[in-house]
Amino acid sequence: MNHNRFLLGNTALLLLAAAFYAGHAKAADLAQGKKLYEANCFACHDSSIHTRKETIIHSLSALKKRVQFCESMNKLGWSDKQKDDVVAYLNGAFYKFK
Ligand code: HEC
Repeated sequence: MNHNRFLLGNTALLLLAAAFYAGHAKAADLAQGKKLYEANCFACHDSSIHTRKETIIHSLSALKKRVQFCESMNKLGWSDKQKDDVVAYLNGAFYKFK
């Protein structure tokens, strides 16, 4: 009985941790996004553009569209996963949309 309880408790904790992680990272890889961004996106602007007062980004969907647009202007040929990673990084580090 005690042993079962221990297992149940641990499973619940794991599930909680997984839900917490998924809720925050949404399966995108922020560290990878940061690397991609810093290696490919500084040609025209640095990251201070994301905290400028007159930001043109007012929603997560606008951020996705903008990353898509800047990525295609730069002809990087990123996969959807790579774009998602960069969106997740920029949102986590600067925009913080829910
Ligand atoms: C070819 C030049 C160029 C490159 C390369 C570029 N950008 Fe941009 N980006 C711009 C310009 C210009 C603006 C400002 C547009 C405006 O003010 O209307 C901008 C603005 C942005 C914004 C909005 C900033 C804000 O909060 O107002 C985001 C987000 C962004 N870029 C992401 C990226 C990402 C991600 C990459 C790399 C894939 C990238 N950019 C590479 C030209 C570029």
